[in-house]
Amino acid sequence: MKIVRADSSSIREAAHIIRGGGLVVFPTETVYGLGANALLPFAVKRIFEVKGRPSDNPLIVHVSSLEQAELLSSNLPPLFYELAENFWPGPLTLVVSRSSLVPLETTGGRDTVAIRMPNHRIALSLIEESGVPIAAPSANKSGRPSPTRISHVLEDFQEGIDIIIDGGSTFHGLESTVLSLVHDPPLVLRLGALPLEEIKMVAEVEVHPAALGKKMDAPTPGAKYTHYAPSVPLILVESGREVLFSLYDDLKRDKKVALLLLRDMNPEDVAKTLFNQLRELEKKHDIILVEPPLEKGVGLAILDRLRKAATKIVR
Ligand code: TXA
Ligand code: MG
Repeated sequence: MKIVRADSSSIREAAHIIRGGGLVVFPTETVYGLGANALLPFAVKRIFEVKGRPSDNPLIVHVSSLEQAELLSSNLPPLFYELAENFWPGPLTLVVSRSSLVPLETTGGRDTVAIRMPNHRIALSLIEESGVPIAAPSANKSGRPSPTRISHVLEDFQEGIDIIIDGGSTFHGLESTVLSLVHDPPLVLRLGALPLEEIKMVAEVEVHPAALGKKMDAPTPGAKYTHYAPSVPLILVESGREVLFSLYDDLKRDKKVALLLLRDMNPEDVAKTLFNQLRELEKKHDIILVEPPLEKGVGLAILDRLRKAATKIVR
């Protein structure tokens, strides 16, 4: 697996690989993506194989222009344009009806397609240079925390990727918000780096309970599987510091316990470092105890990720 710094010649090389059906890891403003030509079924299938991802879990298709998005959908509602105008390029993924150009492999057999325009120089030039939309899930093995630096990608994958573009640490550290426009009212399927408060300034939306960490009938296949999990047990303590500290005292008698106190931090700062911390802590601890962040801004999205990563939640 070749690792390159982003410059015009490496982006040209990566674009060539995408066009030919290969796999490219590239940075976005949220997390690193594992990209392939979204219009080539065999290329997209390789993503699922390499990630170990269930084939019914659809991929996000990344575009660099509105014209490209228009080719992917048979019917873009006025609200699509309003949201794109306000939040693209940026961490908002919009689920709309699929055009026949998009293979069913990309959409996990669905008649809808998830589209996003990333706010990242390298990602945008890669898409432009490729001349095709790029399907890309987060570049982690299925179930693991999303990668926010290339060292995380290298921990999860020893082979199977053609080229990895190093763009340093990603800005948000948390995946995009996924909003379905095929629901009425529009339905948030996954909370993410674009806070709900901001979306609500443009559109009335509802939030599916599964987007808040509930393991239940998922509105999006992605919410159905265990996610974002470190390799050691994670206990999320939602019942306050007293319970947290007494559990800590108990466990630390015979285990190496990591304690992650998030309540006093700005949620945006928590998001930037959370996945990296989980990947670091698992290396030296037997168990990770976590206090939830404040439930404002991206704090809600972080809470969702922690609930999905948790082996146990204390309420
Ligand atoms: O920030 C991000 O969104 C990153 C970067 C690389 O763009 N990508 C990412 O992709 O997080 P992934 O595959 O890890 O998560 C995509 C989520 C999944 O929960 C999936 O089920 C949902 O989006 N999704 C994709 N297409 C969908 C569709 N047509 N209908 C409903 N949900 C969909
Ligand atoms: Mg993912």
